[in-house]
Amino acid sequence: MTGNAITAEGLRKRYGETQAVDGATFEVRHGEFYGILGPNGAGKTTTLEIVEGLREPDEGTATLLGEPSWPRNKTLLRRIGVQLQASAFFERLSAREQIHTFASIYGVPTARADEMLETVGLAEKSRTRENKLSGGQAQRLSIACALVHDPELVFLDEPTTGLDPQARRNLWDLLRTINSEGRTVVLTTHYMDEAEVLCDRVAIMDEGRVLRVGAPAQLIEELGVRSLEDVFLQLTGREYRE
Ligand SMILES: Nc1ncnc2c1ncn2[C@@H]1O[C@H](COP(=O)(O)OP(=O)(O)O)[C@@H](O)[C@H]1O
Ligand SMILES: [Mg+2]
Repeated sequence: MTGNAITAEGLRKRYGETQAVDGATFEVRHGEFYGILGPNGAGKTTTLEIVEGLREPDEGTATLLGEPSWPRNKTLLRRIGVQLQASAFFERLSAREQIHTFASIYGVPTARADEMLETVGLAEKSRTRENKLSGGQAQRLSIACALVHDPELVFLDEPTTGLDPQARRNLWDLLRTINSEGRTVVLTTHYMDEAEVLCDRVAIMDEGRVLRVGAPAQLIEELGVRSLEDVFLQLTGREYRE
């Protein structure tokens, strides 16, 4: 494939007095595992939503798989997966009913949906209602729903927030698998360790701006420091706080 999976050029978005995104420019390559890393309030979610085509930027342009993200493009929706927050599940449905609903929206056979439940390790929870799943199980179900139509590119917004260490590691393995199958993965995170172990490249974001992009090890080397926390300190003059 030619070109980038994503290009974002000069994105800006303001909410009232808050400049949530303040000129974000970056590119994601096909097949890349890409992280948008920064503290709470850095503008990660807003940036992701603009790239996904869910939000119109005030300024700038984003392209997704070669097409403009905005105005919203229905043919693109089939080619991308967007992990919804667990709170966006349909109420009172079991895990299996949940993913079958997503499958029917995309015209995907239910057998494929059941396969996805198995892939994310939820086959045994298929009859469990969404509100009875643990945090890690709910995250895995939302990822399964985002993958059911076999998208080329998957967006995940803070997929491991609130999970215990074991559940986080299990989810990391799942995300690595998804990426190694050839899908482009874009995630946001405020966890430095997560960015470091998972991402081919990260965009370090703060106060709506992309401060630096590179492979974690390369950023650490370029700035002559010991960790991504130190990279953030060098770039902002502030200690990193999640
Ligand atoms: N819908 C909204 N209305 C008003 N302010 C918002 C809205 N969404 C985000 N913000 C503000 O914009 C800034 C960036 O938010 P967000 O993109 O959610 O950052 P992050 O995902 O990095 O935490 C924050 O100051 C946040 O409070
Ligand atoms: Mg966010």
